[in-house]
Amino acid sequence: MIDKATAFAPATVANVAVGFDILGHAVQAIGDTVTATRSAEPGVRIRSITGTAEDLPLEAARNTAGRAVMTLWEKAGMDGGVELEIVKGIPLKSGLGGSAASAVGGVVAANALLPSPLDKLDLLRCAMTGEEVASGSVHVDNISPCLFGGLVLTVGIDDPRIKQIPVPPGVHCVLIHPHMHLATKEARGLLQAAVPMSEFVWQMANLAGFLAGCYSNDLDVIREAFQDVVVEPQRASLIPGFAKVREAAMAAGALGCSISGAGPTVFAWCEEAQAEQAKRDMIACFAAEGLDSDSWISAIEPVGARIIG
Ligand code: HSE
Repeated sequence: MIDKATAFAPATVANVAVGFDILGHAVQAIGDTVTATRSAEPGVRIRSITGTAEDLPLEAARNTAGRAVMTLWEKAGMDGGVELEIVKGIPLKSGLGGSAASAVGGVVAANALLPSPLDKLDLLRCAMTGEEVASGSVHVDNISPCLFGGLVLTVGIDDPRIKQIPVPPGVHCVLIHPHMHLATKEARGLLQAAVPMSEFVWQMANLAGFLAGCYSNDLDVIREAFQDVVVEPQRASLIPGFAKVREAAMAAGALGCSISGAGPTVFAWCEEAQAEQAKRDMIACFAAEGLDSDSWISAIEPVGARIIG
């Protein structure tokens, strides 16, 4: 039995415009790294948090990784304890699935220490308890792609079913992270509880069209369907210049552009030839609002969280 393991967990784009809370994909650009080490003292402790966000709770029950590993440790009936060292590579409150990545990285690393490791669906359930600490609600659209890799549809919460959706070859994801923070709790809190029937029908058609386009490699259908008519309009005003950023991406030839998760990162799916132009134009729109940005052009990450040491 090993007593120390390090896992890498990638950043993720949740919702992917058309699948609020059920669809997400992993990206190759950045991620969090978590090292789990067995200790004699029972329980879960966070030894350190370094990297892009250091002022996160060190108390395990209030930390996404800590909470998720507590669930795993209890579920596995482990004696003794485990210590976590978290290296954040994903900016805090960026909409790139940072809390999910720490939770997933934690459970993948700690799982490697178990005499009988849990399967991925159990790891998903453990990581969900960590995500709940961060965002105040259980949603799986960051955790599932972070753990499984690729573009992932999750059906169900109590008994989640995972479907990895094929992504047409050559699709790249442009990510623009304007330098501002948006808390997921806040961005969820402002959403209206009811959706007009016409928007419901339109969004359903878009989700169905998007998935059909992915399965049939039909970029025209993907472009046509790649629009969030329910959630994005309610959140757009939280991100200065969002409408212009989106317009710029589409004018550069993107397949679609929307808010990554709860924002403020904006993502655009592009074919390779259009990606650089879209990135430049999107950055320029945020700059016109006085916002500097970090940016990446990333492939859809196919593997998900994994042990790296
Ligand atoms: N689906 C969630 C939301 C993702 O948009 O609120 C947040 O990480």
